[in-house]
Amino acid sequence: MGDEKATGLSRGLTNYGDKDFSIYLRNSFASSMGYSREVLKKPIVGIANSFSGFNNCHRHFPELLEAVKRGVLLGGGLPIEFPTISLGEVFLSPTSLKFRNLMSMDTEEMVRAQPMDAVVLMGGCDKTVPAQLMGAASADLPAVQLVAGPMMTSRYGEERLGACTDCRRFWGKYRAGDVSTEQINDIEGRLATTAGTCAVMGTASTMACIAETLGMSLPGTAAIPAVHADRLRAAEASGRAAANMIDQPIRPSEVITEKSVENALRMLLALGGSTNAIVHLTAVAGRLGIKVSLEKMNALSDTTPVLVNLKPVGEHYMEDFFFAGGVGAVLRELKPLLHLDTLTVAGETLGDRLERDPGYVDHRVIAKADAPLEPQGGLVGLFGNLAPRGAVLKRSAADETLFEKTGRAVVFNSLEDLANRVDDPDLDITRDDFMVLQNAGPKSASGMPEAGYLPIPKKLSAQGVKDMVRISDARMSGTAFGTIVLHVAPEASVGGPLALVRNGDQIKLSVKDKSIDLLVSDEELARRKSEWKSENVPAEMRRGYDRLYASEVSQADEGCDFAFLQPIDFKSDS
Ligand code: FES
Repeated sequence: MGDEKATGLSRGLTNYGDKDFSIYLRNSFASSMGYSREVLKKPIVGIANSFSGFNNCHRHFPELLEAVKRGVLLGGGLPIEFPTISLGEVFLSPTSLKFRNLMSMDTEEMVRAQPMDAVVLMGGCDKTVPAQLMGAASADLPAVQLVAGPMMTSRYGEERLGACTDCRRFWGKYRAGDVSTEQINDIEGRLATTAGTCAVMGTASTMACIAETLGMSLPGTAAIPAVHADRLRAAEASGRAAANMIDQPIRPSEVITEKSVENALRMLLALGGSTNAIVHLTAVAGRLGIKVSLEKMNALSDTTPVLVNLKPVGEHYMEDFFFAGGVGAVLRELKPLLHLDTLTVAGETLGDRLERDPGYVDHRVIAKADAPLEPQGGLVGLFGNLAPRGAVLKRSAADETLFEKTGRAVVFNSLEDLANRVDDPDLDITRDDFMVLQNAGPKSASGMPEAGYLPIPKKLSAQGVKDMVRISDARMSGTAFGTIVLHVAPEASVGGPLALVRNGDQIKLSVKDKSIDLLVSDEELARRKSEWKSENVPAEMRRGYDRLYASEVSQADEGCDFAFLQPIDFKSDS
């Protein structure tokens, strides 16, 4: 007999107006897949599998899936895999972020609509983990996040290569004429050579560490390399943990709380992690009515040291981080700053976990809290008349000599304009200017791509210029570096102040004051605003998901989520 408290196949019955008929019919069709009657009576652990031929980072998921299934069976459940859409970072146009919310909806609805008692979420590549966490938070069924794990590094001559900080490093050298076409072709084939996510502390790795810190992944699993046998053991353990939660449910709403979100923010700051992660964490927390703000991040940043010496900020790679002690080692260093009574999907508190963790740490990779790489967190929120709702700078990946500076704006009004003019030998630009990119925010045609890492104009890179202040409403890859002000909100394409910047305007950046200001009078800005017209195609002239996205996506400070996916009583005060 099926009812809402039922388990396994009897959950969430298709409604024909006759419950007994519904369960009879469902069992009949499930039998066609070869399950015995005994097996069909078991509780079910769904496995959300985001394997795709368009996602190189998830190449090893078939093997990982077998291990998850083994774990579920050991825990007494019936494992049933189901596909969701997948977001392979470099295979999506205009940008993967646009489809994060779609994947979160797919995950949420399929977890809720299909008969399962718990779920393992298999993700990894950049937007997949935030999408799965968002979906799981909204569905609020016991869930374990299993990540793909990072790629191993490779070699080019004597140099160690890891996607994709080294992709950018060598491309910069190629643009400057220091690397030949033959060499760059050779390097291209050596940058990403195994399954798994990018090999540095990019967005995927940052989100994996955040998932573990939140308590949604099993302790010690975030950093295990994709191809390491421990990754398979982590998959087995994740399946088993999900099965264990059938009798003793731990729901995402019990794991993702104000306190665990604050712990996750501390982790992000201590990692010097990806700027994208603040957008994603805001969106994940928002699904449970928890507000994350840049002001809050700044307050935590003042007391959270940078501890992790990984590219793109430092020297090492994710496999080194794993062998150095991983997330557990960072958590132990941060312990006095953390809420220790937060719950993990393993059924223990963070405090319990840190008590029993063996404690190995390689301090060449993970610094001691009393001898940090930097005393303050890796990210800083900037505010001012250019970004009334905030902007983000990854100060740990930026050039300190540019932190207190006023510069002349050189404006590109779209990505196309940038591509057309940035390498023009006649471009009026010097190393002291501020490059400004407009119309690359979430509601623009480009959908907030990772284009905030504006290329240094060729004529300057040929002179040896490696960094300049660059400002935009776009994002930046977690694997990139530079003095790059991102996520300016409100964005230019909805008439934010960024849209009003003109060539030659002076802009003042002060990291010390956490400010970014356009030094133009209010009267002149009001005049420019009165002349401003949106170039966005109106939502009603679009169709399908593109229309939904254009009309519903929020600004970066609200996580670029859709308001209707947040709890009905959740009010963003931005
Ligand atoms: Fe998948 Fe970088 S391309 S994590």
